[in-house]
Amino acid sequence: MSFREELAKYTAEAEGIIASFLPAEEGEAGKLAEAMNYSINAGGKRLRPVMMKMAYEMFGGDGEIIRPFMAAMEMIHTHSLIHDDLPAMDNDEYRRGKKTTHIVYGEAAAILAGDGLLNLAYETAAQALVRVSGDPVTAQRAARALAILSGKTGFAGMIGGQSVDVAMDGKKLTSSQLDFIYRLKTGALIEASLMIGAVLAGADEDQVRTMEVIGRKIGIAFQIRDDILDVTGDERELGKPTHSDERNEKTTYVTLYGLDKANTDVNLLTQEAMQLLGGLGRPHPLLPDLLRSLVQRTK
Ligand code: IPE
Ligand code: IPE
Ligand code: MG
Ligand code: MG
Ligand code: MG
Repeated sequence: MSFREELAKYTAEAEGIIASFLPAEEGEAGKLAEAMNYSINAGGKRLRPVMMKMAYEMFGGDGEIIRPFMAAMEMIHTHSLIHDDLPAMDNDEYRRGKKTTHIVYGEAAAILAGDGLLNLAYETAAQALVRVSGDPVTAQRAARALAILSGKTGFAGMIGGQSVDVAMDGKKLTSSQLDFIYRLKTGALIEASLMIGAVLAGADEDQVRTMEVIGRKIGIAFQIRDDILDVTGDERELGKPTHSDERNEKTTYVTLYGLDKANTDVNLLTQEAMQLLGGLGRPHPLLPDLLRSLVQRTK
């Protein structure tokens, strides 16, 4: 089977898992459930849950506890996209090939749909923790995973990064400010994905730290590639508008350093991450190919 076919199996598995944790579109708040499900069901690459699953396998994990965490990660990521597209933030009208949530359901509903998904992520992880409470080893790992998930999402993670990102529209950033934003707004959830997979499989402290550094490098490279695609990408393939950064007068890796250096640094960061991954001595048949494939991705 080719890498593409193997990856498609992981993606399909992630789709099924995510779908199994989504709310039923019924009752008085059925419209909220519909708005929550709209963007998460619109697709997306499901990279974070797939990376989490591969990290879990890499450290020998083969249980069910990974499933709610995979779903929770995609809920948090989708929450971040729904809010990122709001008029008060990047003001974008397309996401995952469809009109954004606020265009379809209105701004108030999109804010609440984002909140609903963010909270559902923690409901999902907390319920999983309760379910495994009779198994202290798994419960302890799940508790640690929940701490990572919430920490990497919040003030010191993705939301903190987004706060600086939007505050800096129209301003020129230094390279260290830009690094801070990318490490948090995009790096943090990718770090968390790799760390949680490792933690749930029982990896030790050093191994988890290494997964965090790998996630950081891949996350920053991922955001630089996203900036490149905002300039050079194809809207239909991306499923979201190009030139959003220019319209929002953002300093990006591309405006600060130019396309050539941006491309070079995506490669460099990825190579550094691959080296660290290899150094762990825990080969996985697909994770290295997946991380490498992100360098040249077109969506
Ligand atoms: C988009 O993330 C937001 C960034 C962090 C750049 P993805 O490119 O993973 O988006 P989906 O999930 O595939 O839609
Ligand atoms: C967003 O960065 C990162 C998030 C945490 C959502 P961007 O604003 O560049 O993401 P896109 O290009 O809209 O997907
Ligand atoms: Mg943004
Ligand atoms: Mg955006
Ligand atoms: Mg972007």
